[in-house]
Amino acid sequence: MAIRPILHYPDKRLRIPGEPVTDFGPELQTLVDDMAETMYAAPGVGLAATQLGIAKRLFIVDTATGDDEPSDLRVFVNPEILDGEGEVVFDEGCLSFPGAREEIKRHAVVRVRAQDRHGATFEVEADGLLAIAIQHENDHLDGKLMIDKLGVLGRRLLHRSMVKRQSAEATAR
Ligand code: NI
Repeated sequence: MAIRPILHYPDKRLRIPGEPVTDFGPELQTLVDDMAETMYAAPGVGLAATQLGIAKRLFIVDTATGDDEPSDLRVFVNPEILDGEGEVVFDEGCLSFPGAREEIKRHAVVRVRAQDRHGATFEVEADGLLAIAIQHENDHLDGKLMIDKLGVLGRRLLHRSMVKRQSAEATAR
C-alpha cells in the first residue's frame, strides 16, 4: 500500500469525468488500498479516484469519525444515485481544497446503487454524514467540485484563496 499525492484545486485533472470501471483485477485492488491509506493519512472522510488523477468511477468513504468508533470503510465502484430526498446544509471540507470549509446544500437522504471492490452490485440508503459524503464524492466522478455550488462571490473568494495558497506552496518548495 502507498500514500498517493492528492490533487489540489485548481488542478484541471479534477475536472475530468471518470470512465466506468470494468476490470476488478489486482490493479483496482491496489488502487482501493492506496486510496484508503491516502484518505486515512490525510485524514478525510471520503476520497474519489479523480482526486488522485485517475479518471475512473470509484470513491471510498468512512464516516466513522469518533475516536472510539471502529472504521467503516465503504467502497463505491460505478455508483449511481437513484434518488434523493429532503435537504440538509453542512459545513463541508474537501481534500482537494485544503483548509477550506463551505456550507453546501444537498439531499438529506439518498439511495445509491454501486458495485463493491469485487464487482458485486449493492444498494444502500444513506442519511446523515454518509449521505453528504456520498453526494460529495459522486460529484468528483463527474468532475464537479464543491466550489461549483457556491454563489458568485463565494466562488471568487475560494478560488482566490486556493490560488494564493498554491503559489505560497510553490515558493516554499
Ligand atoms: Ni472532495
